[in-house]
Amino acid sequence: MLALTAGGLSVFFLSRPLGRIADAADRFLHGETEVQIPVKHDDEIGRLARAFNYLSEEIVRLTRKEEWLREVLSSIREAIIVTSASGEIVLANPAASRLFMIEGARKRSIPVDHIEFPEMRELFERVHAHQSGIYNEELTVMTPKRERVFKVTAVPVRKASQFDGTVLVINDITRLRNLERTRRDFVSSVSHELRTPLASIKGYTETLLEGAMNDPENATAFLHIIQQESEQLTALINDVLDLSRIESGKIVYTFEPVAIRPQLEKTVALFEPAASRKGVRIELSAPDGLPPVLADRNYFDIVMRNLIDNAIKYVDANRGRVRVSAYKSDDAVSIEVSDNGLGIPQADLERIFERFYRVDKARSRELGGTGLGLSIVKHIVLAHKGKVEVRSRTSSGSTFTVTFPVA
Ligand SMILES: Nc1ncnc2c1ncn2[C@@H]1O[C@H](COP(=O)(O)OP(=O)(O)OP(=O)(O)O)[C@@H](O)[C@H]1O
Ligand SMILES: [Mg+2]
Repeated sequence: MLALTAGGLSVFFLSRPLGRIADAADRFLHGETEVQIPVKHDDEIGRLARAFNYLSEEIVRLTRKEEWLREVLSSIREAIIVTSASGEIVLANPAASRLFMIEGARKRSIPVDHIEFPEMRELFERVHAHQSGIYNEELTVMTPKRERVFKVTAVPVRKASQFDGTVLVINDITRLRNLERTRRDFVSSVSHELRTPLASIKGYTETLLEGAMNDPENATAFLHIIQQESEQLTALINDVLDLSRIESGKIVYTFEPVAIRPQLEKTVALFEPAASRKGVRIELSAPDGLPPVLADRNYFDIVMRNLIDNAIKYVDANRGRVRVSAYKSDDAVSIEVSDNGLGIPQADLERIFERFYRVDKARSRELGGTGLGLSIVKHIVLAHKGKVEVRSRTSSGSTFTVTFPVA
């Protein structure tokens, strides 16, 4: 009876601390992190409690470390992918998940053939086959929207001198490559545009020197051509300089309230002589009480000059009409420059804002155009948080509308 009671008591006294440990383990398993058991004795129960405390602290520390590593991986803009020895994706940071549409790679391994782009799958195979040294490759991938260029660096991971997978770092260098291409195209277009008038200047000068100088009628005509070509060169160089300054983003615009009507009156007056020489009428209409816009006065003027210059240039002599009108629309003021000129074919409309794009190259050149005016306009207007639109119908005319925010 006594033995039975003693046994029962010791089970009772033992089971209380054991129960506390079990409770603590339960709470820990349910996500409570600060679980510690008071250690009262140095007996087996005490050692168990101490071990539990140590392990729970260790687990909390490791979990925090893992969260920190995950944060670090998430904040890296490059796509990072880790593959296992068998070639499956075992880790992908968010940048990589977005890039390759492989959500969930952080929770489980993903076979490489889940990647949508065949070029990328083949890359993984090449990298996997190359189990030593650093691997570098530039890869062009056709995605549903557009072509993208990736720079891939892969480093093998070794565990106990055995190949244990690969770490791939993938940089999207599409923008960089596009910029390089644009720059190359720009340089070759500029060179081409410089060469044409230069060749003509050279040709006429040689003809003059070879004897045409002594024929006054021809000499005057040739000198006029040389003068015209030099003006073309000057205009081109000025436009290129303007555009490269504007595009570089280094321009500091001085935004101030600009009263539209006086500004437009000045610009229109500037074009009157050239317009009347061509027999073109310019009309200006800007209502009273138009609010001022927030703009850099000089660049606002460059925009208007380019649009009015085009309108006068592309209307027929003696029957041309150019209309400049300003009106308020919501929190902005729109200025329309419309003409009754030759118009722009639908297919060219979306391209005329590109550098050097001219609908009729020969005709524009004859008129002294280099095809940079509208790309300058577009850059300036966007820097003003405004917009530029065009409507046109061949042989009935064009309307360019620029919109600037109210000051
Ligand atoms: N009002 C217009 N009517 C008809 N075509 C136009 C008009 N404005 C522009 N274009 C077309 O758009 C092209 C691009 O215009 P943009 O002002 O950029 O160049 P450009 O006038 O040829 O040369 P630049 O302005 O550099 O002297 C022109 O070559 C022309 O074909
Ligand atoms: Mg122009």
